[in-house]
Amino acid sequence: MSEDLQLNNGTKKEQYESLIPQINGLLEGEPDLIANLANTAAALKQQFGWLWVGFYLVKNEELVLGPFQGPIACTRIKKGRGVCGTSWEQAKTLIVPDVEKFPGHIACSSLSKSEIVVPVIRNGEVLAVLDADSEDISQFDSTDQFYLEKVVELILF
Ligand code: SME
Repeated sequence: MSEDLQLNNGTKKEQYESLIPQINGLLEGEPDLIANLANTAAALKQQFGWLWVGFYLVKNEELVLGPFQGPIACTRIKKGRGVCGTSWEQAKTLIVPDVEKFPGHIACSSLSKSEIVVPVIRNGEVLAVLDADSEDISQFDSTDQFYLEKVVELILF
């Protein structure tokens, strides 16, 4: 694996349709979880340029910061806290169009305006969450949810 990521300038749907096979290619044959989470975060950051994108891993009943791209972030989040902890608790994707209107939102960066958190679920258990933050209000919608839920399916946990 030494080729550059091919970036796409089309619609959001076209960008995901182009990116997802490439992420699949990056992960293929690589069993190391951290390596795979790191490249997935990097590929999403390169294509979409969001402020922050990365993973929190469930460890001992807390979310602990994993591979990410973007500014430094809080390292531990308890179940039910913030958008990430709520997505974990509810085991469902949360789209937050305006983080200031989400009670309990954890502001890791004051630049973050909207957010999506997608849980990684295996055998009914949340093992991690994928979090993406944007400097724009209402950045994320059902298209992001549809494709990011596919992205987390690709990762071998
Ligand atoms: N805003 C998140 C915390 C993680 S950072 O944004 C990277 C939350 O409310 O869970």
